[in-house]
Amino acid sequence: MADSNKTATLTFDNKSFELPMHSPTAGPDVIDIGKLYGQADVFTFDPGFTSTAACASTITFIDGDKGELLHRGYPIDQLAEKSHFLEVCYLLLYGELPTAEQLEDFENRVTLHTMLHEQMTYFYRGFRRDAHPMAVMVGVVGAMSAFYHDSTDINDPWQREVASIRLIAKMPTIAAWAYKYHIGQPFVYPRNDLDYASNFLRMCFSVPAEEYEVNPILSRAMDRIFTLHADHEQNASTSTVRLASSSGANPFACIAAGIACLWGPAHGGANQACLEMLREIGTPDRIPEFIERAKDRNDPFRLMGFGHRVYKNFDPRAKVMKQSADEVLELLGIEDNPTLQTAKELEKIALEDDYFIDKKLYPNVDFYSGIILDAMGFPTSMFTPIFALARTVGWVAQWKEQLSDPAHKIGRPRQLYTGKTFRDYVEVENR
Ligand code: ACO
Repeated sequence: MADSNKTATLTFDNKSFELPMHSPTAGPDVIDIGKLYGQADVFTFDPGFTSTAACASTITFIDGDKGELLHRGYPIDQLAEKSHFLEVCYLLLYGELPTAEQLEDFENRVTLHTMLHEQMTYFYRGFRRDAHPMAVMVGVVGAMSAFYHDSTDINDPWQREVASIRLIAKMPTIAAWAYKYHIGQPFVYPRNDLDYASNFLRMCFSVPAEEYEVNPILSRAMDRIFTLHADHEQNASTSTVRLASSSGANPFACIAAGIACLWGPAHGGANQACLEMLREIGTPDRIPEFIERAKDRNDPFRLMGFGHRVYKNFDPRAKVMKQSADEVLELLGIEDNPTLQTAKELEKIALEDDYFIDKKLYPNVDFYSGIILDAMGFPTSMFTPIFALARTVGWVAQWKEQLSDPAHKIGRPRQLYTGKTFRDYVEVENR
């Protein structure tokens, strides 16, 4: 963060306060209000943090107007095309693309941590069979702090590193087992000879009676879904992880908090909600009816998979995802899939509609990811767990960055109090 020569002046009640400013390497300048309360006895008000930078970060940059997403400076479309998930994990965690040796070492370290403590199988069995896999993931990831005591000390850099690798390595096993438990099949253990995405697909779809042959095109598409979801700067779940971590909580508890936040339909839950919406629409002729509902202020219905807090242009991840959807459906010979036809037609109609144009509502990453996951054989309940699996590296990278920032302190927002002021307690018989 570079200090800027510029300052901002805030004037009220005939008093003026000069506020320092910071210049980012990209994006808008930032007014530093950190000392404002002490100097001027006022708070700032910004529900939803629409104009507030809560931290300085070097990991991910988004230009929402241009529709640009950079990880450590590299654009997401190049990473999705030329790189792969574990290399992107390395980039997010350590700041640079790895050499061949560094990558091999990192992949080995992740591969050697994919198994879960055997005692955790009993923990799974405590859940109801019909539990949503996200509910299981929140519980199991939180419970990792009860199983891996030797990587919960956040003040020890070695333990922080071990916790990071454990989380990235074990998340596919945790998500696959949540799925297996949900459908009543036995857990499938990880295999070290498979790459990250293939291993996950096998743990989800293999059964003791029949081995699952991983198709390299599906494995590549899976890896791309992971890559496209790896990080997205200070979104709701990442901010949740940072806020939980600011109190000094252990890494597993913090990531469990992130998973809980991701679950909501306005965030990671949108991919499940989007596919369910496409199925409810059913056929392209019903699209106008749903478009009208989305535009009606008195109807809470929204077009899922459309709109984004930051992107006021195409979500660059949606473009890659759309291409992947075409590839996967062609491979599986289901290009005439009615859900895909509905999605394509809905996208076309919405992009030509004044309501969506005026409000700059474009398809986001979730619009096409559900179609791919559905074609691969995942039930909608697994869509958000897969998002959580992929986003874990982003949460971990942001968590590590926060802990290594000497200026970090506990997050403690203030409020605009609008409740009753002081009043005396009234005995029950006098109320
Ligand atoms: N369908 C219809 N109208 C919409 C939609 C939508 N999907 N999204 C926003 N709008 C409208 C709002 O009603 C609002 O209209 P108004 O100005 O007349 O009140 C305007 O556009 C601005 O919307 P906000 O909700 O204020 O924008 P915000 O930045 O707070 O919300 C959000 C962004 C939550 C993503 C929203 O667009 C949405 O709910 N989309 C559907 C859910 C979804 O796809 N979420 C995934 C996000 S990406 C991710 O998490 C990976």
